[in-house]
Amino acid sequence: MGLKKLNDLGENVTIVNNNILKLVQRTVREYINPKAEVLSIESNSMGLGFQAVELNRHSVIIQADYKTSRVSLVSKQATRLERQVLRALYAQRANVPYSYSDGAESEERSLVCLQDVDAQTDYGSLDIHSLQLSETKTLSHIHLTNFGQKKELSWLPEADSLHIEKMILERWKPQWQKAKENEQFIDVFGDYILSVEAAANTILEDIQQVIHDETSQTLIHNDLNPGNVLVHNNADVYFIDWEETRYGSIFLDIPLRFRTSEQLEEYKRQLAVSNIEFPINQFSQLYAIASRYLGLRYMSWNLGAWTSDSRAKDDLRKYLDMVTGA
Ligand SMILES: Nc1ncnc2c1ncn2[C@@H]1O[C@H](COP(=O)(O)OP(=O)(O)O)[C@@H](O)[C@H]1O
Ligand SMILES: [Mg+2]
Repeated sequence: MGLKKLNDLGENVTIVNNNILKLVQRTVREYINPKAEVLSIESNSMGLGFQAVELNRHSVIIQADYKTSRVSLVSKQATRLERQVLRALYAQRANVPYSYSDGAESEERSLVCLQDVDAQTDYGSLDIHSLQLSETKTLSHIHLTNFGQKKELSWLPEADSLHIEKMILERWKPQWQKAKENEQFIDVFGDYILSVEAAANTILEDIQQVIHDETSQTLIHNDLNPGNVLVHNNADVYFIDWEETRYGSIFLDIPLRFRTSEQLEEYKRQLAVSNIEFPINQFSQLYAIASRYLGLRYMSWNLGAWTSDSRAKDDLRKYLDMVTGA
């Protein structure tokens, strides 16, 4: 996108091009004030995301009714699926950023302008316990609103065997083989190796129970890693990055987010309000299988990163524990 230069503070600033200006203008008019004029935009690169798409944050000064104010927006080259699901969920009052895109019909990635969800959030002073509980509401709202709506959601791909096989065979397996040859890994995590391999040997078969469980299918996020869960105004949990969304079982979402029995009970209580209930045994069995699968899938990146990043190391232990049921 535009030219790069350094501003007075030495930050990397992008001189916005006309496309961004138009997109920001339209976003602001749709979501903030239909009469707003954009006075200026200062754009900073947020670097490349996991999918190697460039993300930018735009600090925008707008004027409406003779008053000026500042709003922060994010832009991203998003797939059609992500653009589509963001709009559908926003219309359902889910906690997702508002979004605007001109390329609605295009199959290709297209620039989307998003609400900057955590511009006002101070991550140093959060009430984690209350956020954990409110997150059960946020996710159950999305799951409930779309529960069993397979026909209406026929535009969503399904979380099927092929999808899961790919994650295990193409993502996890090569990383695991490499880690197993690393002495430092054997020193620190060697005790996990046998039980992780035992779980991995049967996971593609075990997960069939989750995939084919007709009682728990809905719209799922399917990539609830910590980077895709943001806090808005220090008070609400928002889910971003909907590129991996699928029609599939709730059990492919919840083990990554709900790890305490308090959260799980709260989530179940929310579902029960809409008469969605699971026999205790079925719930814990599907939860356990899905935990094993998700632990494998998500440790892949950490297996490479843990030696140089202490957070990656903590998360690696968390994912190993999910696989071994610790
Ligand atoms: N709407 C948003 N509000 C605030 N931060 C965002 C927003 N969208 C993306 N980000 C930031 O950019 C990062 C990468 O964006 P994401 O949509 O998750 O793409 P990727 O596919 O690269 O993971 C996020 O982890 C988050 O820190
Ligand atoms: Mg992401």
